[in-house]
Amino acid sequence: MRRKIIAGNWKMHLLADSAVGLAKSIAEDLKDVNEVDIAVFPPAPYLILMKEVLKGTNVKYGAQNMYFEEKGAFTGEISPGMLKDTGCTLVLIGHSERRKVFNEPDHLLNKKVKAALDFQIQPYFCIGETLEERESGELFNVIETQLKEGLAGINEKQLESVVIAYEPVWAIGTGVVATPDQAQEMHAFIRNWFLKNYSDKSAEDIRILYGGSIKPDNIKGLISLKDIDGGLVGGASLTAESFNQLVRYSR
Ligand code: 13P
Repeated sequence: MRRKIIAGNWKMHLLADSAVGLAKSIAEDLKDVNEVDIAVFPPAPYLILMKEVLKGTNVKYGAQNMYFEEKGAFTGEISPGMLKDTGCTLVLIGHSERRKVFNEPDHLLNKKVKAALDFQIQPYFCIGETLEERESGELFNVIETQLKEGLAGINEKQLESVVIAYEPVWAIGTGVVATPDQAQEMHAFIRNWFLKNYSDKSAEDIRILYGGSIKPDNIKGLISLKDIDGGLVGGASLTAESFNQLVRYSR
């Protein structure tokens, strides 16, 4: 039985006070929840604050990005070791905003996934097609390439620590959520990819989150689907009220 995950990606929102306040409210309000994994991805400067705020709670936290090198002349980048220092245990790799706005290619994302695993930071590897790719019928090829290239060289044992987030680009921040049929179809395709390329067990065990305009009023239709193991939430993760509702609706 796969445990569900509800994760909030705060993107480049909030300042220190509001980030700490939000984390505190989430941890306090959800302290009785133990059937769902809860995670937040605050902006990098606030990760270190989470060490104190989320200590001893059931809320995990992670970074939204990471570089793959251990150290060196990489101005502006953050190493896996630096992330470990903040106490965080998770990292988003390949969010569509990293892919599109910052032109991060599959082979770079592959290095980042490997570096995260080497440092025992759990990668949430994000994939998803654009509207043009969907409408041209290329969607499954696009997802397959992202999986193949992003996870190249990752063995079955390592895969146990990977979480997949399927986020169709056209659904991110648009208010247009994938229909349950669209989401289930793609999640089943992704799970089947793991069946073909890894094993029955890998396919059965890997958690595949949906992301893209999740709100309290649409989560129930998604979370109940066979191959959806939770959500990676942007906008609706920015208030404790809606985020906590999403967690409670996923139990
Ligand atoms: P929204 O929930 O705001 O659509 O964002 C989804 C997302 O990008 C989460 O990583």
